[in-house]
Amino acid sequence: MGKKLIQFIDGPNLNMLGEREPDIYGSMTLEEIHNEVRKHVLNLNSEIDLVFFQSNSEGEIVDCIQNSLRNCSGIIINGGAFSHTSVAILDALLSIDIPKIEIHLSNLYKREEFRHHSFISKGVDGVICGFGPDSYVLAVDGMVKLI
Ligand code: DQA
Repeated sequence: MGKKLIQFIDGPNLNMLGEREPDIYGSMTLEEIHNEVRKHVLNLNSEIDLVFFQSNSEGEIVDCIQNSLRNCSGIIINGGAFSHTSVAILDALLSIDIPKIEIHLSNLYKREEFRHHSFISKGVDGVICGFGPDSYVLAVDGMVKLI
């Protein structure tokens, strides 16, 4: 059997990590975070492969979720601000029957009230938030148990 593919999806403004509000999101770039995840997976499980996608566009994220059904075993998504606004991303997640985990760098519940609700949470198996870049790494550990 081939390797199992985990699709990471990062939403709007996450391409700005490193420069963007470092007091909230830390100083690592998205690429550095992804490299940490790659390293973790290399030590963890040789049966897993990762694929990363970032977009600032809601429609592209919906397309990526739909396409994941064809070749991926699971999705880990940081929807960024779309988490709090997007019924379209929720519907895309609900439409595909593979394990899904929502992640956030920051602890949403310590922040503004509008961040306390995520539309996409209803479409995932679990949520990890507040661990900074480690939210990404912890999500892989969770996903390995689901797939
Ligand atoms: C975020 C939290 C969101 O509220 C925010 O809009 C982001 C990043 C996080 O990873 O903490 O863009 O998803």
